[in-house]
Amino acid sequence: MSSKKTANDIRATFLDYYKSQGHAVVDSSPLVPRNDPTLMFTNAGMVQFKNVFTGQEVRPYSRATTSQKCVRAGGKHNDLENVGYTARHHTFFEMLGNFSFGDYFKDDAIKFAWDLITKEFGLPKEKLCVTVYHTDDEAAAIWKKVAGFGDDKIIRIPTSDNFWMMGDTGPCGPCSEIFYDHGPHIAGGPPGSPDEDGDRFVEIWNLVFMQYEQVPDGEGGFKRLSLPKPSIDTGMGLERLTAVLQGVHDNYDTDLLRALILASADATGTSPDGPHAVSHRVIADHLRASAFLIADGVTPSKEGRGYVLRRIMRRAMRHAHILGAKDPVMHRLVPALVREMGGHYTELQRAQPLITETLRTEETRFKALLDRGLKLLADEEEKLSPTDPLPGQVAFTLYDTFGFPLDLTQDVLRAKKRPVDVDGFNAAMEEQRRKARAAWAGSGEAATEKVWFELKEEVGATEFLGYDTEVAEGQVTAILTPAGERLTSAAAGTDVIVVVNQTPFYGESGGQVGDSGVMFSGEGTEVTVRDTTKKLGAVFAHAAAVTKGNLSVGDVVEMRVDTTRRAAIRANHSATHLLHEALRRRLGEHVTQKGSLVAPERLRFDISQPNPLSAEDIRAVEEAVNARILGNSDVTTRLMTPDEAIALGAMALFGEKYGDEVRVVSMGGMEEGANKEFSVELCGGTHVRRTGDIGLFKIVNEGAVAAGIRRIEALTGRGAFEYLEEQEARLQQAASALKVPPAEVPAKVASLVEERRKLERELADLRRQVALGGGGTAAAPAAKDLGGVKFIGRVVADLPAKDLKPFADEMKKQVGSGVVTVISVADGKASIVVGVTEDLTSRISAVDLVKVGAAALGGKGGGGRPDMAQAGGPDGGKADDAVAEIETAVSQAVAAAA
Ligand code: SER
Repeated sequence: MSSKKTANDIRATFLDYYKSQGHAVVDSSPLVPRNDPTLMFTNAGMVQFKNVFTGQEVRPYSRATTSQKCVRAGGKHNDLENVGYTARHHTFFEMLGNFSFGDYFKDDAIKFAWDLITKEFGLPKEKLCVTVYHTDDEAAAIWKKVAGFGDDKIIRIPTSDNFWMMGDTGPCGPCSEIFYDHGPHIAGGPPGSPDEDGDRFVEIWNLVFMQYEQVPDGEGGFKRLSLPKPSIDTGMGLERLTAVLQGVHDNYDTDLLRALILASADATGTSPDGPHAVSHRVIADHLRASAFLIADGVTPSKEGRGYVLRRIMRRAMRHAHILGAKDPVMHRLVPALVREMGGHYTELQRAQPLITETLRTEETRFKALLDRGLKLLADEEEKLSPTDPLPGQVAFTLYDTFGFPLDLTQDVLRAKKRPVDVDGFNAAMEEQRRKARAAWAGSGEAATEKVWFELKEEVGATEFLGYDTEVAEGQVTAILTPAGERLTSAAAGTDVIVVVNQTPFYGESGGQVGDSGVMFSGEGTEVTVRDTTKKLGAVFAHAAAVTKGNLSVGDVVEMRVDTTRRAAIRANHSATHLLHEALRRRLGEHVTQKGSLVAPERLRFDISQPNPLSAEDIRAVEEAVNARILGNSDVTTRLMTPDEAIALGAMALFGEKYGDEVRVVSMGGMEEGANKEFSVELCGGTHVRRTGDIGLFKIVNEGAVAAGIRRIEALTGRGAFEYLEEQEARLQQAASALKVPPAEVPAKVASLVEERRKLERELADLRRQVALGGGGTAAAPAAKDLGGVKFIGRVVADLPAKDLKPFADEMKKQVGSGVVTVISVADGKASIVVGVTEDLTSRISAVDLVKVGAAALGGKGGGGRPDMAQAGGPDGGKADDAVAEIETAVSQAVAAAA
């Protein structure tokens, strides 16, 4: 056997071996299970295949192999308090496994395993023994044949130790475990013996012969159904196997964990062994768990998975404190972890900035509290005798005021063997909840809000999984009518609001609309989700309709976000960030966000900006955004305190209230000469992975919404493309109507416009000439003599109103001295002008005359000067009458003056 193999080699050898045996090498699934809402973290390799075993899900392969990330902390399997103090406890570990989904069964499973450990890994047969379930003669016979073991090495175990179940329900079956004997120098006996708990015999591999599915029997118990086909699930802890292959007894002495312990020793300037060994082990283990959880989207918080993460992180930070670290340490170990494990788990590389920032933020914040909390604890201990438990109220104060998770307090007191009064702690916690409820009840909020407050108390905040996945299972924790009444179940055809413990659906906030999609349950229930909102910033409300079957509280539902719609929303959201920055650069720093809507079909962005954007501005902004899209750089998300974010130059919304921690989304690539990305913004929304995913960006509208606020509407991706296609189709239509290639359309249109102007001018000239009788058919009438004053009255068709005065001037010249009037009739309406030559204006006023004409035409008024006045009337048919009236009026004026 080669003692040179590193943990990374061993993992690769395992996967390669099964690959050569026809197994698909499948990536580890995330630590937050997508397919089991009752499971806190993925804790075995088979979790991602749960539904494949039962036949609910079909995959394109029938045998698979994985190296699965597992966390056992919080929830059912909790190893947290032992980590650091033992050789083989971890919160994070890797489980190597091979799986058969109705393909091979016991025969091959045993053969493969035996072959791998004895041939590939070279473990000597004498060092190995196996267990089988006491009634499993078949497995015993196969072991005898394959390994050549006698009965003394095939140990029959009658207990549940050799019947594997993932939980109360799910696939299960008898199992067979392979043990390695570290030798007589270590205390302990073989499995099944009274001394089996000693460290001498270590279980390295568990082969589960999956045959049953355990389900509720409807009477409060369980029953076992046969799986469609017998299957195989095996699990081998990489850390244990590595210890065996590297000839060490303790998992923490293997290369990978040792490298992290050395990094911890180096960062704290302490010795890796000796009195500080426990602290280094805790740090090494917890660094792995924290980093992998953060990479899979868990962030430290007050509840659920986030709280387990926080407990792990703070426990490690307490040990860094024991090592005398003055400044935050954990984040400085991230490079060592990425070096060791980032090759296989590339998510560590991708999330490295997020992991670093999250650790630093948490440790910075916790440090001050830790010092003060430890001081309080020491003071309180002074008051106690060495055997007194720590009062629950003190543990609660440490929790509530100093952020000490209960297990951290217990860990501090562990060395002194002082217990904590956990009942007292729980009572203090319950009392605090009661007070919060009472305060709420007195605050007189609206009834529907009250329902949400109660729900938040009762079922807790909904965990949002949608940054990492668009499909996940959730457990229904409440069903409400749209009016807010609680239901226990709802039948098809009912409109409801559904609350689940965890969801991939984004709840409307920060301008981004809520997700829609569907929920299914195993019983054939189907629920259509129209929209998702966030109540009290914590509980996700899925506005939905039950379309098939019956939905009940407690149901486990598979939730599927409408992915096409979400992809469009993501592209629009990321484009909004790029647009924001591009606008600031083009228009100036005064540009701030005044409103934003990120919907699937478009984005709308309001900014403070006094003047309209010019066409040039719009083009430049589009150009800048599209350049970033073409740059196709990574979009990164980090968590930090609001102050850190602002210091980094993140754009935040003024006046917005942010929590202790904020998400900072950066994109657009590093700027030359600046150590920040093109766009850095505080944002809780969902974004594309790379800017290239936006596809294309096009502004389609720019206008005012209020004084000093401009609104920009834009499209991305397919929407932008379709818009441009439509524009192009219009251009093509225009080109074919003009009978020129598209490129010549602008010149052609310009020349047509010019030509038309010229023609209009010529037409007007011609009409005037015709009207004046200069060459047309309608000869000019001769002037009448009205008591010594010459008068010409004309009715013409279609002479533009603006041409009437020049025309009347012409007529005045023709008569030399006298009165002229011209009425032009167009579309049934009349325009009229009256002109009086200068010599007569003291006697006769054009204004008076035009009023007479206008009245005859059914109009009113008219105005101008004594020598030239203009008016109009609706009654074009009365034009000749109007001329006659004016003639009469002139006659009267002449007579009156005589
Ligand atoms: N599911 C079994 C275990 O976790 C074998 O992979 O031990």
